[in-house]
Amino acid sequence: MAHTLTIPDEATRSEVYRAVLPQIFSLIDDETDLIANLANISAALYAALGVLWVGFYLRKGSQLVLGPFQGPIACTRIDVEPVARGVCGACAERAETIIVPDVEKFPGHIACSTLARSEIVLPLVVDDRTELVLDIDSVRLDEFSNEDRNALESLLGRIKEKHFPSIA
Ligand code: SME
Repeated sequence: MAHTLTIPDEATRSEVYRAVLPQIFSLIDDETDLIANLANISAALYAALGVLWVGFYLRKGSQLVLGPFQGPIACTRIDVEPVARGVCGACAERAETIIVPDVEKFPGHIACSTLARSEIVLPLVVDDRTELVLDIDSVRLDEFSNEDRNALESLLGRIKEKHFPSIA
C-alpha cells in the first residue's frame, strides 16, 4: 500500500513532530519487520527535519553496526565495549540520550561527515542493555533541544513496544 508523508510548510519543530509522529506511528503499526520500519522512520525524519543525517545503529555483541539511514555514507561499526567510542558508543553504554550542541567539544566524537556540527543520539534500552540507537546529525550548531529528545524518545518507546516487547 502506498503511503504519503505530509509535512507542514514553515512549521516550528514542535509542529513538525505533532504532524509527522502520528503518521510514522501509523506507518510502522502496519509492518512487522524491524528493519523495514527503521528504514521508513529514517526517511520520514530526514524529510521532516531537514537535517544532514538520520539513522540507526544496531547492537551486535560489543559493537554498534550501521542500520537503515538517510544522508551521506557513514562509519559502519562503533565500539561500545571495552571502550565506548563516539557519541553513539557513549549513548549505548550510558543507556541515555545525549544532545551535543557542538560536536567539536565532545571528546572522541566520530566525524562521519565534516559537515556535522551538532547531534542527538537516543537509545532503545531493553533490560538495561541498549539494543539500538537513533542518531541525528545537523550542519547547524545547537540544533537539538529537549523538544527533540521528548518527541524522539516517544518514537523509540513505540518501536520498543512493537519490536522488543517485554518477556517479563
Ligand atoms: N558522530 C557519531 C558517529 C555516527 S555518524 O555521525 C553517522 C558518533 O560520534 O558516534
